[in-house]
Amino acid sequence: MITLLRKYTDFNNLQADDCELPVPQGDTSSARLATGRSALWHLISRLPDAEKTTVLMPCYVAEGVLKPFLQANVEVQFYKLTEQLTPDVSDVGKILSQHNGPTLFVLIHYFGYSGWTPSLRSILSGENAYILEDFAHAPFVKDDDGRYLAEQADLALYSFNKIIPVGDGALLVSCYDDIDVSLTETDYPPLPTQALNAFEKHLKACRDLYESKSMTEAKIHLQHLSDWYEAYYHFINTQIDVHVQSDQSRQIESIFPYGALIEQRLANSKMVHENLQSRFVTLLHTEFSEKNVPFGLPARVKNIERQKFLDFMFQEGILLSTLEDKWDFRPENEQSRYSFEKDFIADHVLIPVSEFISKEKMKYMINIMNSFEA
Ligand SMILES: Cc1ncc(COP(=O)(O)O)c(C=O)c1O
Repeated sequence: MITLLRKYTDFNNLQADDCELPVPQGDTSSARLATGRSALWHLISRLPDAEKTTVLMPCYVAEGVLKPFLQANVEVQFYKLTEQLTPDVSDVGKILSQHNGPTLFVLIHYFGYSGWTPSLRSILSGENAYILEDFAHAPFVKDDDGRYLAEQADLALYSFNKIIPVGDGALLVSCYDDIDVSLTETDYPPLPTQALNAFEKHLKACRDLYESKSMTEAKIHLQHLSDWYEAYYHFINTQIDVHVQSDQSRQIESIFPYGALIEQRLANSKMVHENLQSRFVTLLHTEFSEKNVPFGLPARVKNIERQKFLDFMFQEGILLSTLEDKWDFRPENEQSRYSFEKDFIADHVLIPVSEFISKEKMKYMINIMNSFEA
């Protein structure tokens, strides 16, 4: 089964190459936590004036990004997104003009693509706002000049299990003088062993799914991977206070061959851009660019019910992902304000381009997508 899900990997076979994880440069403080949500909980405790701060974020956001702010009673306001999943600058401007206290602006680089636009830079540069860039999907995204965005960020968040096969691990880096995120890691526990074991079982079920040869087999593994993920998720979502990264995840993070990951993901996405020809599936980002190392290629399914397309692909041995479970927080009384978000959540799919998918498998997948007829 072709899927973007990270799968259990024999760590003895991993060998670092010459590519390192890009991180903010300069005078920084940093902390290695177990999860992104734990890192945000920690960040809130280090904000100079958290109780007076307003956090701006899109409503199409992971529960793990929103929850720490709500739990800490920090005010959250949602801004709209454009069809490219970048912040809607006129909406951001309106929200910013309505309050004058401290602001934390959360910028998510969705699926490996930059959330920056020139107008966003310009509006935020006139504001006294902290900018938190979420690189969980996009640690390797570059700007138009080919420089890593992460190296230029002032406040950066990473959550490693979105990209590499680890059970935990999040990095928080701050260049702001008045936000010192450093901590003494030995003062805090890692996640409970049960949580890490559950994630390892999830990764093993993902590997079994990837290797499965029949639909019946695939369905069983799919159920297992989902059950183990829920078991893990229960821990991380009920224990968002400070937990530090486990030693195993730290070790894998340090030896993972990121250069090979980048190369294969770029080659795979280029192949999709060059060969996808479908009346039903359109890529969100129409141009291929080496600036973006995708988590999965976001595309939208039009003129047909999405489930019908997902079912067809699954029958052919391809699992397309969607990101809606534990995402999407459109305030009930403002549903109509977020019409793009609503449509995107209903019609998007993520096309797998992960490093473990061979050229032949990519070709097969693209041919199957092209052959789909309603
Ligand atoms: C883009 C993004 N940022 C942050 C998080 C939160 O990270 P964690 O799950 O490690 O708490 C997630 C989780 O899904 C995410 O997808």
